[in-house]
Amino acid sequence: MRMVCIVKFDPWNPEFIAHPYDAYRHLRENDPVGFFEPTGQWLIARHADVNALLRDRRLGRSYLHMATHEEFGRQPEPEFQEPFWRVVRAGMLDVEPPVHTRLRRLVSKAFTPRMVESLRPRVRKIATELTEGLVERGGGDLLAEVAEPLPVTVIAEMLGVPEADRHLLRPWSADICGMYELNPSLEAQHTAVRAAQEFAEYLRDLARIRRDRPGDDMISALAQVVDDGDRLTEDELVGTCVLLLNAGHEATVNATGSGWWALFRNPGELERLRADPGLMPTAVEELLRWDTPAQMFERWVLEDIEVGGVTIPRGVEVALLFGSANRDPEVFADPDRLDIGRVDNPHISFGAGIHFCLGAPLARIEMAESFGALLRLAPRLALAEEPAWKPSYVIRGLESLKVTV
Ligand code: HEM
Repeated sequence: MRMVCIVKFDPWNPEFIAHPYDAYRHLRENDPVGFFEPTGQWLIARHADVNALLRDRRLGRSYLHMATHEEFGRQPEPEFQEPFWRVVRAGMLDVEPPVHTRLRRLVSKAFTPRMVESLRPRVRKIATELTEGLVERGGGDLLAEVAEPLPVTVIAEMLGVPEADRHLLRPWSADICGMYELNPSLEAQHTAVRAAQEFAEYLRDLARIRRDRPGDDMISALAQVVDDGDRLTEDELVGTCVLLLNAGHEATVNATGSGWWALFRNPGELERLRADPGLMPTAVEELLRWDTPAQMFERWVLEDIEVGGVTIPRGVEVALLFGSANRDPEVFADPDRLDIGRVDNPHISFGAGIHFCLGAPLARIEMAESFGALLRLAPRLALAEEPAWKPSYVIRGLESLKVTV
């Protein structure tokens, strides 16, 4: 396996994407709060700073609750992007309180640890069936055949997306995520806008159907809230469902793929997990820490702040480097070592503060069950060829993961 040492932060370079950790170390040691000219953002590399800024209300996922683009000194987005932002800014992730509080409260009941624990038998059944399929075929692409369909099926069932339409979710999500990459190409922007538009239309139609004939699913429940008065607008309903469907699988797919790739590169740890499946809970956390599927999250600076002695002015964006925070030796002993039994593991992969991942308990169950099923049913699972990383950095994952059983 080739591991190139790149010490420059270079998110468009495939070799950096494959292994950003030397560059992160360099930043933490030399430039923990550094201005990155190509995107005009401040890069924040240390765990303590990332963790503190995620909880700091002087920063926000948006500034539009307090200022217009012009008042904040920013250019409005180009007109053609309007359908994209209309969908995205109607979901809880891209709004701040009080709207965030209201939207999050509406769906949070469905994602409490106890609620999602009740889904475990169903998750296990899906994971088992998918793994049996892979074993019967003598191997294949673990990513496409197990890692993707598991979380897509679970979140689609929760929301009530009919089986026949589920194949649409992955491509829509991937296209929408294209907009979150750094300086996306014009083509990627148009693709994201088109996907958001199609997804929104699809969900508007589905919500109408469920309003007339409710089922036992979340879209029916949310469609009811729209009918009940002004607690949820139709845009908010669509934005919430798009967010849940996308966030509900994108990161889990990538975390499962990267997690297996991490285990294949650390065969001693894979053997340790095979020998003691009781290590699964700490193994899941460690795999999420070691190679987090979301390398960076951004925040707008709403008031001047000081980070590590550097003043960052209102109106700019900070880029919080989750992948770097998760390898910070100030917080993690021997941070580059994969240790599936690591107990003291305050990784930042699910975020922190008010936007802390709503689906974390579900993601943990999905990962534990899919890793568990593969360990149980494919005891000789092995890598067939070295995988390649997708060209995206912010949302980072493998193209495929070919295995033999
Ligand atoms: C390994 C899998 C996952 C990872 C690593 C992950 C990571 C994250 C992170 C870091 C955030 C916060 C972003 C920020 O602060 O800017 C977030 C938010 C969110 N996640 Fe996840 N996520 C995962 C799985 C899921 C699943 C399965 C769901 C299910 C619905 C989900 C739903 C959400 C939602 C709704 C939010 C927005 C919360 C808010 O704004 O209050 N995620 N996720």
